[in-house]
Amino acid sequence: MNTTVLIVAAGSGSRLQAGVPKALAALGDGRTLLEHCLESVAAAHASGAIELNAVAVVLPSRQGAAAALEDVCRTFAAHRGITVRSVPGGAERADSVRAGLAAVRALSGETAPGERHAVLVHDAARPLVPPAVFQAVMTALGEGAAAAVPAIAVVDTIKTAAGTDSGGERVTGTLDRSELRAVQTPQGFDLSALEAAHRRAEREGPAGAAALTDDAMAMEAAGHPVAVVPGDPLGFKITTPLDLMLANALLDPSSP
Ligand code: C5P
Repeated sequence: MNTTVLIVAAGSGSRLQAGVPKALAALGDGRTLLEHCLESVAAAHASGAIELNAVAVVLPSRQGAAAALEDVCRTFAAHRGITVRSVPGGAERADSVRAGLAAVRALSGETAPGERHAVLVHDAARPLVPPAVFQAVMTALGEGAAAAVPAIAVVDTIKTAAGTDSGGERVTGTLDRSELRAVQTPQGFDLSALEAAHRRAEREGPAGAAALTDDAMAMEAAGHPVAVVPGDPLGFKITTPLDLMLANALLDPSSP
Protein backbone atom coordinates (compact mmCIF):
# COMPACT_ATOMS: atom_id res chain seq x y z
CA MET A 1 0.00 0.00 0.00
CA ASN A 2 1.29 3.47 -0.91
CA THR A 3 2.48 4.78 2.47
CA THR A 4 3.69 8.15 3.70
CA VAL A 5 5.33 8.44 7.11
CA LEU A 6 4.49 11.55 9.11
CA ILE A 7 7.04 12.30 11.83
CA VAL A 8 5.96 14.82 14.45
CA ALA A 9 9.07 16.53 15.79
CA ALA A 10 7.80 19.96 16.83
CA GLY A 11 7.76 19.38 20.61
CA SER A 12 9.73 21.73 22.84
CA GLY A 13 11.27 18.93 24.90
CA SER A 14 11.00 20.96 28.11
CA ARG A 15 10.84 17.74 30.21
CA LEU A 16 14.10 16.56 28.61
CA GLN A 17 15.96 19.68 29.83
CA ALA A 18 18.40 19.42 26.91
CA GLY A 19 18.43 23.17 26.27
CA VAL A 20 17.35 22.60 22.64
CA PRO A 21 14.09 21.34 21.09
CA LYS A 22 13.96 17.57 21.64
CA ALA A 23 14.43 16.66 17.98
CA LEU A 24 17.83 18.39 18.07
CA ALA A 25 19.07 16.54 21.16
CA ALA A 26 22.21 14.47 20.50
CA LEU A 27 21.81 10.73 20.84
CA GLY A 28 24.33 7.88 20.82
CA ASP A 29 26.95 8.74 18.23
CA GLY A 30 26.04 12.43 18.48
CA ARG A 31 23.55 12.54 15.62
CA THR A 32 20.27 14.28 16.42
CA LEU A 33 17.23 12.43 17.70
CA LEU A 34 15.43 13.31 14.43
CA GLU A 35 18.21 11.75 12.36
CA HIS A 36 18.04 8.53 14.38
CA CYS A 37 14.27 8.47 13.87
CA LEU A 38 14.59 9.05 10.11
CA GLU A 39 17.16 6.23 9.95
CA SER A 40 14.71 3.86 11.70
CA VAL A 41 12.14 4.68 8.99
CA ALA A 42 14.78 4.06 6.29
CA ALA A 43 15.60 0.72 7.94
CA ALA A 44 11.91 -0.27 7.89
CA HIS A 45 11.75 0.74 4.21
CA ALA A 46 14.92 -1.19 3.35
CA SER A 47 13.60 -4.29 5.14
CA GLY A 48 10.45 -4.22 3.00
CA ALA A 49 8.20 -3.53 6.00
CA ILE A 50 6.81 -0.39 4.35
CA GLU A 51 6.31 0.61 0.74
CA LEU A 52 7.50 4.16 1.39
CA ASN A 53 6.16 6.94 -0.80
CA ALA A 54 7.70 9.85 1.13
CA VAL A 55 8.30 11.27 4.60
CA ALA A 56 6.71 14.44 6.00
CA VAL A 57 8.38 15.95 9.06
CA VAL A 58 6.77 18.53 11.34
CA LEU A 59 9.39 20.83 12.86
CA PRO A 60 9.44 23.37 15.68
CA SER A 61 8.84 26.92 14.48
CA ARG A 62 11.83 28.29 16.52
CA GLN A 63 13.99 29.72 13.78
CA GLY A 64 17.47 28.38 14.55
CA ALA A 65 16.13 24.96 15.46
CA ALA A 66 13.99 24.76 12.32
CA ALA A 67 16.95 25.64 10.08
CA ALA A 68 19.18 23.00 11.71
CA LEU A 69 16.46 20.33 11.49
CA GLU A 70 15.64 21.23 7.87
CA ASP A 71 19.29 20.58 7.20
CA VAL A 72 18.99 17.14 8.83
CA CYS A 73 16.00 16.37 6.56
CA ARG A 74 17.81 17.55 3.42
CA THR A 75 20.94 15.51 4.18
CA PHE A 76 18.88 12.39 4.95
CA ALA A 77 16.82 12.79 1.76
CA ALA A 78 19.94 13.17 -0.40
CA HIS A 79 21.75 10.30 1.31
CA ARG A 80 18.87 7.80 1.28
CA GLY A 81 17.12 8.89 -1.93
CA ILE A 82 13.83 9.35 -0.04
CA THR A 83 11.53 12.35 -0.59
CA VAL A 84 11.27 14.39 2.62
CA ARG A 85 9.03 17.44 3.05
CA SER A 86 9.20 19.55 6.23
CA VAL A 87 6.51 21.88 7.61
CA PRO A 88 6.19 23.98 10.79
CA GLY A 89 4.20 22.54 13.68
CA GLY A 90 1.67 23.96 16.13
CA ALA A 91 1.16 24.52 19.84
CA GLU A 92 -0.32 21.07 20.58
CA ARG A 93 0.64 17.70 19.14
CA ALA A 94 -2.73 17.48 17.34
CA ASP A 95 -2.03 20.88 15.66
CA SER A 96 1.31 19.53 14.46
CA VAL A 97 -0.33 16.37 13.11
CA ARG A 98 -2.91 18.43 11.21
CA ALA A 99 -0.15 20.57 9.66
CA GLY A 100 1.66 17.38 8.74
CA LEU A 101 -1.43 15.75 7.23
CA ALA A 102 -1.72 18.62 4.73
CA ALA A 103 1.85 17.87 3.62
CA VAL A 104 1.12 14.13 3.48
CA ARG A 105 -1.91 14.78 1.25
CA ALA A 106 0.19 16.95 -1.07
CA LEU A 107 2.82 14.18 -1.26
CA SER A 108 0.22 11.42 -1.80
CA GLY A 109 -1.91 13.14 -4.41
CA GLU A 110 -5.65 12.65 -4.77
CA THR A 111 -7.16 9.33 -3.73
CA ALA A 112 -8.99 7.72 -6.65
CA PRO A 113 -12.24 5.86 -5.81
CA GLY A 114 -11.38 2.47 -4.31
CA GLU A 115 -7.71 3.45 -3.83
CA ARG A 116 -6.19 3.58 -0.33
CA HIS A 117 -3.31 5.69 0.89
CA ALA A 118 -1.82 4.87 4.26
CA VAL A 119 -0.20 7.29 6.67
CA LEU A 120 2.01 6.21 9.56
CA VAL A 121 2.03 8.92 12.22
CA HIS A 122 5.22 8.58 14.24
CA ASP A 123 6.72 10.45 17.22
CA ALA A 124 10.27 11.62 16.54
CA ALA A 125 10.72 10.97 20.26
CA ARG A 126 10.64 7.19 19.56
CA PRO A 127 13.79 6.79 17.47
CA LEU A 128 14.54 3.12 18.20
CA VAL A 129 11.42 1.38 16.84
CA PRO A 130 12.45 -1.83 15.01
CA PRO A 131 11.15 -2.66 11.48
CA ALA A 132 8.94 -5.47 12.87
CA VAL A 133 6.66 -2.90 14.50
CA PHE A 134 6.25 -0.97 11.20
CA GLN A 135 5.56 -4.34 9.57
CA ALA A 136 2.89 -5.32 12.12
CA VAL A 137 1.06 -2.00 11.68
CA MET A 138 1.19 -2.29 7.87
CA THR A 139 -0.08 -5.89 8.00
CA ALA A 140 -3.14 -4.78 9.99
CA LEU A 141 -3.83 -1.98 7.47
CA GLY A 142 -3.33 -4.44 4.60
CA GLU A 143 -5.97 -6.69 6.18
CA GLY A 144 -8.44 -3.81 5.98
CA ALA A 145 -8.10 -1.97 9.32
CA ALA A 146 -8.62 1.80 9.06
CA ALA A 147 -6.47 2.28 12.16
CA ALA A 148 -3.78 0.19 13.85
CA VAL A 149 -1.63 0.94 16.89
CA PRO A 150 1.34 -0.91 18.38
CA ALA A 151 1.01 -1.54 22.10
CA ILE A 152 2.67 -3.32 24.99
CA ALA A 153 1.29 -4.60 28.29
CA VAL A 154 1.37 -2.23 31.28
CA VAL A 155 3.57 -3.49 34.12
CA ASP A 156 2.65 -0.97 36.85
CA THR A 157 -0.62 -0.91 38.77
CA ILE A 158 -2.47 2.20 37.53
CA LYS A 159 -4.65 4.14 39.94
CA THR A 160 -6.72 7.29 39.55
CA ALA A 161 -6.21 10.08 42.09
CA ALA A 162 -7.78 13.42 42.99
CA GLY A 163 -6.67 16.41 45.05
CA THR A 164 -7.70 16.69 48.70
CA ASP A 165 -8.64 19.83 50.66
CA SER A 166 -5.30 19.70 52.47
CA GLY A 167 -3.44 19.99 49.16
CA GLY A 168 -2.45 16.33 48.94
CA GLU A 169 -3.94 13.57 46.80
CA ARG A 170 -5.97 10.45 47.48
CA VAL A 171 -6.64 7.37 45.38
CA THR A 172 -10.06 7.31 43.76
CA GLY A 173 -9.82 3.95 42.04
CA THR A 174 -7.66 1.19 40.55
CA LEU A 175 -7.88 0.21 36.88
CA ASP A 176 -7.94 -3.41 35.75
CA ARG A 177 -4.37 -3.88 34.57
CA SER A 178 -5.21 -6.84 32.36
CA GLU A 179 -7.12 -4.47 30.06
CA LEU A 180 -4.48 -1.71 29.93
CA ARG A 181 -2.03 -1.21 27.07
CA ALA A 182 0.76 1.34 26.66
CA VAL A 183 0.33 2.57 23.11
CA GLN A 184 3.29 3.55 20.93
CA THR A 185 3.90 4.84 17.43
CA PRO A 186 4.01 4.45 14.42
CA GLN A 187 0.23 4.44 14.35
CA GLY A 188 -1.15 3.49 10.95
CA PHE A 189 -4.27 4.89 9.30
CA ASP A 190 -6.23 5.08 6.12
CA LEU A 191 -5.24 8.63 5.13
CA SER A 192 -8.71 9.84 4.13
CA ALA A 193 -10.25 8.44 7.34
CA LEU A 194 -7.63 10.13 9.55
CA GLU A 195 -8.07 13.46 7.75
CA ALA A 196 -11.81 13.27 8.37
CA ALA A 197 -11.34 12.26 12.03
CA HIS A 198 -9.04 15.24 12.66
CA ARG A 199 -11.49 17.60 10.94
CA ARG A 200 -14.21 16.23 13.22
CA ALA A 201 -12.03 16.77 16.34
CA GLU A 202 -11.23 20.32 15.20
CA ARG A 203 -14.95 21.11 14.89
CA GLU A 204 -15.26 20.24 18.59
CA GLY A 205 -13.02 23.22 19.38
CA PRO A 206 -9.53 23.73 20.78
CA ALA A 207 -10.25 21.75 23.99
CA GLY A 208 -11.25 18.66 21.98
CA ALA A 209 -8.19 18.86 19.76
CA ALA A 210 -5.83 19.54 22.70
CA ALA A 211 -7.17 16.46 24.50
CA LEU A 212 -5.91 14.23 21.67
CA THR A 213 -2.68 12.74 22.98
CA ASP A 214 -2.51 10.38 20.02
CA ASP A 215 -4.22 10.01 16.64
CA ALA A 216 -6.06 6.79 17.38
CA MET A 217 -8.17 8.85 19.82
CA ALA A 218 -9.51 10.90 16.89
CA MET A 219 -10.39 7.70 15.05
CA GLU A 220 -12.05 6.19 18.14
CA ALA A 221 -14.16 9.35 18.55
CA ALA A 222 -15.19 9.06 14.90
CA GLY A 223 -16.38 5.49 15.53
CA HIS A 224 -13.60 3.55 13.79
CA PRO A 225 -12.37 0.28 15.32
CA VAL A 226 -8.65 0.50 16.11
CA ALA A 227 -6.60 -2.68 15.70
CA VAL A 228 -3.90 -3.40 18.30
CA VAL A 229 -0.66 -5.03 17.13
CA PRO A 230 2.45 -5.99 19.12
CA GLY A 231 4.67 -3.05 20.02
CA ASP A 232 8.23 -3.34 21.27
CA PRO A 233 10.00 -2.16 24.43
CA LEU A 234 12.42 -0.31 22.08
CA GLY A 235 9.45 1.86 21.05
CA PHE A 236 9.70 3.79 24.32
CA LYS A 237 9.33 7.57 24.10
CA ILE A 238 12.28 9.73 25.05
CA THR A 239 10.72 12.24 27.43
CA THR A 240 12.99 12.64 30.47
CA PRO A 241 16.78 12.71 31.01
CA LEU A 242 16.49 9.10 32.27
CA ASP A 243 14.97 8.01 28.93
CA LEU A 244 17.87 9.71 27.13
CA MET A 245 20.37 7.80 29.31
CA LEU A 246 18.62 4.53 28.41
CA ALA A 247 18.68 5.33 24.68
CA ASN A 248 22.36 6.27 24.89
CA ALA A 249 23.16 3.02 26.70
CA LEU A 250 21.27 1.01 24.06
CA LEU A 251 23.15 2.78 21.26
CA ASP A 252 26.56 2.38 22.91
CA PRO A 253 28.45 -0.16 20.75
CA SER A 254 30.52 -1.22 23.78
CA SER A 255 27.48 -2.09 25.92
CA PRO A 256 26.72 -5.83 26.22
O1 C5P B 1 4.59 15.87 24.01
P1 C5P B 1 4.53 14.44 23.59
O2 C5P B 1 5.45 13.58 24.42
O3 C5P B 1 3.17 13.87 23.47
O4 C5P B 1 5.18 14.45 22.13
C1 C5P B 1 5.13 13.32 21.29
C2 C5P B 1 5.66 13.73 19.93
O5 C5P B 1 4.85 14.80 19.42
C3 C5P B 1 7.11 14.22 19.95
O6 C5P B 1 7.83 13.62 18.89
C4 C5P B 1 6.98 15.72 19.77
O7 C5P B 1 8.04 16.32 19.06
C5 C5P B 1 5.67 15.86 18.97
N1 C5P B 1 4.98 17.14 19.20
C6 C5P B 1 4.79 18.00 18.12
N2 C5P B 1 4.16 19.22 18.33
C7 C5P B 1 3.76 19.59 19.55
C8 C5P B 1 3.95 18.73 20.66
C9 C5P B 1 4.57 17.49 20.45
O8 C5P B 1 5.18 17.68 16.99
N3 C5P B 1 3.19 20.79 19.71
